[in-house]
Amino acid sequence: MKIIKTENYDMMSRKAANIIAAQIINKSNSVLGLATGSTPIGTYKRLIEMYKEGDLDFIDIKTANLDEYKGLTKDNDQSYYYFMFNNLFKDVNIDIENTNIPDGTEPDSKKECERYEKVISDLGGIDLQLLGLGHNGHIGFNEPQDDFVKTTQCVNLQESTIEANKRFFNDVTEVPKQAYTMGIGTIMKAKKILLIVNGEGKADILEKVVNGPITPKVPASILQLHPDVTIVADEAALSKIKM
Ligand code: F6R
Repeated sequence: MKIIKTENYDMMSRKAANIIAAQIINKSNSVLGLATGSTPIGTYKRLIEMYKEGDLDFIDIKTANLDEYKGLTKDNDQSYYYFMFNNLFKDVNIDIENTNIPDGTEPDSKKECERYEKVISDLGGIDLQLLGLGHNGHIGFNEPQDDFVKTTQCVNLQESTIEANKRFFNDVTEVPKQAYTMGIGTIMKAKKILLIVNGEGKADILEKVVNGPITPKVPASILQLHPDVTIVADEAALSKIKM
């Protein structure tokens, strides 16, 4: 795992955006795996700036997002579709037809999981997967459990994840209890992985991800086995790791 330490969130975002930009410049029809949450917002802002400055072209880029809450429609302001549209897609020249997110409104989990796996394989796989890190070590919505889940799944969210996400809803009861997520196997098939992490609150879990045993109890620890992982993290998040 290659680790890049940055001074703060802003520099983490700039470095991560540069890595994604390099991917786009090197392969203009790249398939980007994208994440939502607080961590990538600055990265997306920087990518939008680069696009507006004329340095990036998204016209042939295809995307596949990690996850989506089950039960939320695209126009729900807490859906990940809404997040992606408003934090990136609407401000760059991506063809919305080339963007893919699990369909939260599909009630048949088996059908939606199979469809989404096929979408990714029809795209030829993911060139660069961007990941954030949950406080419990989750990636996508792959929560700590007894086994690594291979393909796209419908998962029950853990209490800690529901608690962490309630800040985005009026009330904790409004936080969906299930989500569709790419499986660990789907994520591990990406050619490159870019994990971005910031803040002291994630220092302990990041240390376990990097130095701890590879275990489904810390889902992101599996990344130790991927041949091309770059972690871009700020000093606070790296404060428990000797470099
Ligand atoms: C989001 C996702 C999640 C988040 C993680 C960290 O698509 O897959 O795994 O990356 O929960 O969230 P933030 O960035 O809000 O701390």
